[in-house]
Amino acid sequence: MITKKIKDQLRFCLEKGKKISFLVGAGISAESGIPTFRGEGGYWVVGSKNYKAQEIGTKKFFDVASHEVLKFYLYRKSVTEYAQPNESHFMLREIESLIEDNFALISQNVDSLHKKAGSSEDKTYLIHGDHDFLRCGDDCSTELYPFPKDIQLKSRGKDQLTEDEIKILKCPKCGEDLRPHVLWFDEYYNEKFFKKDTVLRISKQTGILFILGTSGETTLPQIIAKNVLSKNGTVIEVNIDDSYFSDLLKNKKNGMSIRSKSSPFLLELKTEIEKLVITL
Ligand code: APR
Repeated sequence: MITKKIKDQLRFCLEKGKKISFLVGAGISAESGIPTFRGEGGYWVVGSKNYKAQEIGTKKFFDVASHEVLKFYLYRKSVTEYAQPNESHFMLREIESLIEDNFALISQNVDSLHKKAGSSEDKTYLIHGDHDFLRCGDDCSTELYPFPKDIQLKSRGKDQLTEDEIKILKCPKCGEDLRPHVLWFDEYYNEKFFKKDTVLRISKQTGILFILGTSGETTLPQIIAKNVLSKNGTVIEVNIDDSYFSDLLKNKKNGMSIRSKSSPFLLELKTEIEKLVITL
């Protein structure tokens, strides 16, 4: 899977101080038992018990039915809470420790698994937020609040929020409902919460970008890949299926699509990088 082209580009990046970046999505957490968004059983396919996903994943919906939205996220958190990182998360951490400042991890996943695997927070850019935090649903401040421990996680559609939980889920500053710290369909990327400017800057310093386990339906990842290509960087997509990126990379000399699960690919990549680092 790790072709000569990939090896040469990795060497070039390490010699010239270019970034070796990883852009990942829900596919890399699938082996940890977390549903993807658009695959079979995916969150956006199944939705909440009572509402369609595109409806519940919006600020507009939160503004009229905040408790429904909080219940849905408490259900999603019940799935991620006990999930453990898999080989993909661990290999990303290993690669980070091998190449240090050349490394950047841009993740769309809010599931805490990079953190649990030990990836460092300063090289992990969570561009869709983080389930471990809430923030004011009325934007009274930019403060992030750690997820309260005494909230019971919910099963899909059945459990209700208790009166006590409703009180705990209020902004300590203004008393409005707290919201999950995630990016919704009707919201925009920004630097403050989602590191938009930082990851765009990184994309322009990237010599090789590995895109793993994402369908590529969201705009910032699409721009990141195009930026890398426009600066003559190499883009490698690793996915079990076709994605937006398969089309983007078709017939591009500095692009390649590899049909594989992410974990065996990352295992091989880590071994190659290990060999490379010794020779430099
Ligand atoms: N290895 C590699 N790829 C995999 C694996 C695997 N083991 N399992 C699934 N995939 C691929 C699927 O083929 C699919 O292309 O992962 C991709 C998952 O796609 P989505 O479900 O669309 O998830 P993602 O791309 O992360 O979604 C992006 O959309 O609504 C938003 O905020 C949400 O962060 C999410 C964003």
